[in-house]
Amino acid sequence: MIDRATIDRIFAAADIVEVIGEFVSLKRTGQNFRGLSPFKNEKTPSFFVSPSKGIFKCFSTGKGGNVVTFLMENEKLSYPEALHYLAKKYNIEILEKEETPQEKEIKNERESLLSVNQFACQYFIDVLHSPEGKAIGMSYYNERGFREDTIRKFQLGYARDDKNAFTRTAIDKAYKIDYLVKTGLTLQRESTSYDRFHGRVMFPIHGLSGQILGFAGRVMRSDDKIAKYINSPESEIYHKSDVLYGLYFARQAVLKADKCYLVEGYTDVISMHQAGIENVVASSGTSLTLGQIRLVKRFTHNVTILYDGDEAGIKASVRGIDLLLEEGLNVRVVLLPQGEDPDSFARKNNANDFTGFILANETDFITFKTNLLKSDAEKDPLKKASLITEIVRTISVIPESIIRSVYIRESSKLLDVDEKLLYNETARFRKNKFEQKVKQAEVRDFSPHIDLAASLKYKAVADKYTAEKEVIRLLLLYPDLHFTTRTDNEIESETAVSDYIFHEIEQDELEFHHPVYSRIYEEILKCRKDNVTITEQYFIQHPDESLAKTVIDLITSAYDLSRIWKRRENYFETEEMRLKEIVPEAVLAFKNEKVLRLIKETESDLRNAQEQNHEDRIQSLQVKFIVLNNLKINLSKGLGDRIIVTPT
Ligand code: CTP
Ligand code: MN
Repeated sequence: MIDRATIDRIFAAADIVEVIGEFVSLKRTGQNFRGLSPFKNEKTPSFFVSPSKGIFKCFSTGKGGNVVTFLMENEKLSYPEALHYLAKKYNIEILEKEETPQEKEIKNERESLLSVNQFACQYFIDVLHSPEGKAIGMSYYNERGFREDTIRKFQLGYARDDKNAFTRTAIDKAYKIDYLVKTGLTLQRESTSYDRFHGRVMFPIHGLSGQILGFAGRVMRSDDKIAKYINSPESEIYHKSDVLYGLYFARQAVLKADKCYLVEGYTDVISMHQAGIENVVASSGTSLTLGQIRLVKRFTHNVTILYDGDEAGIKASVRGIDLLLEEGLNVRVVLLPQGEDPDSFARKNNANDFTGFILANETDFITFKTNLLKSDAEKDPLKKASLITEIVRTISVIPESIIRSVYIRESSKLLDVDEKLLYNETARFRKNKFEQKVKQAEVRDFSPHIDLAASLKYKAVADKYTAEKEVIRLLLLYPDLHFTTRTDNEIESETAVSDYIFHEIEQDELEFHHPVYSRIYEEILKCRKDNVTITEQYFIQHPDESLAKTVIDLITSAYDLSRIWKRRENYFETEEMRLKEIVPEAVLAFKNEKVLRLIKETESDLRNAQEQNHEDRIQSLQVKFIVLNNLKINLSKGLGDRIIVTPT
């Protein structure tokens, strides 16, 4: 558990624009910042960050929150993970007490797996710096030309050539075997446990916020009999197809350059970083997945793929490219000189020369693919026909028509084929694809009904509490503003919004029924009794995230709603100017909601009492029922009578 004082310190230190700015490129507009929503594909920016309030709001998805909930939403971190992320970033110490075995148990599985990996990562680093590690692992890294700062940055380590050194140590430190197995660090056969990684140099695989999701271990000698790399298996925390190696270290450089280099291997990423090119990630050998592409797309739309000089790899990995185009990315391709891969090329060239080479040799993907296949097709008309089909198919997946036509023109020249023919063929592919999609959609259409029902139900639940919500909103936004009220004797007086609301609610002993609204109300009430002034920040930074989230939603919806400015003659009225209508109306609606609820309860009590032939009870409930119905009528007339309900 992180105590409130530490949480407050983290919130105080965290600059929301800086934190979010690492994931979304933000531009200043007046007091706020604005950018493209990270939660949705959009062309017009609808994502806002308010540094003064410490909140963000995405108007196209309705998501809003503080700096911590942003990390939770965007990076899929848990609440403590997000706090740790910020604490690390802003050098705030979180004093973690030594965990008792019981506390370890409570932690959810995800966190437990991450903490096992964190421990393993440090363990492998420590082993690298032990005498055995220095002699074997470190000398391997040295031979490869990895500098010390590079090794530290990528948290490279070494696993001893001992079949269970790691597992023994972890068990000694009270890590549970269950989690060791689930992360894949430990293998269990019969009753014996083995280390998955031994006698290998270790590359940790980071998530977007620096957490360790898994490992890759490389053998140090070339030996065809054993796999060059062993990787962590899929787990609760490691989904290979959604991870791009190096993105954690690359993301800022990618944003800055608005461009991402894509390579194949871990060592390519590391060597390019070392050479000073940091906007680079690896697909880890396999062809690109949609998950990986969407990941890059959050940071840039420009991807340049670096291919080894040897042709074998090329044709294999062309596959992923259609997927990139389909997602609307601009794909360029660079072929490195014969016999070079990004790793070797980065060791021979500095950042300037490397980037220079890329800029001079980058071609768009269509040209690249055409040139690649052209030589085969030159003399064989059949082969040429299939090449044209292949190219057209690729062009047809590009979502934007202007870009498609640019490519059509270009390949028409390259292939020496009539432009019109290419247009027609592209159109045909698109039509087929469209029809396929429609068919798929028809098949899928059976399930959405369930979702629809659920969302309607949700809406009904939310509507049930609208009056409670409105009262809370007014309490949060305008607690100290005064407005004119009239007492029963027609005497006008000035009352603060909060005084008015508390008075009305406490006097009739009304309750909030929505769990979150009722907690917010209780907290406001408590602060009031303790004479603590409540600010928006108090809730925005509240350690209970459901509470923080609700409050942020309320005050941000106020941006569009309450500033619903009402036109009157020649001037605009703001909500603040209309408090004398709005506040009493809200309280009335609140009371009305309570009366309706009580009427329902009384009805069902009555039915029960009748079933049990409970005469006295039936009578008292009938009286109650009549009183409540009168109240309802009065309320709807706007008389605002007191609701006094005696427990039955
Ligand atoms: N890979 C893997 N398992 C293997 C071989 C390869 O997971 N048995 C993945 C790794 O992500 C590797 C990438 O494919 O980084 C590219 O493979 P390769 O070029 O063989 O590895 P490099 O990382 O370039 O290693 P090195 O330069 O040390 O040979
Ligand atoms: Mn390599």
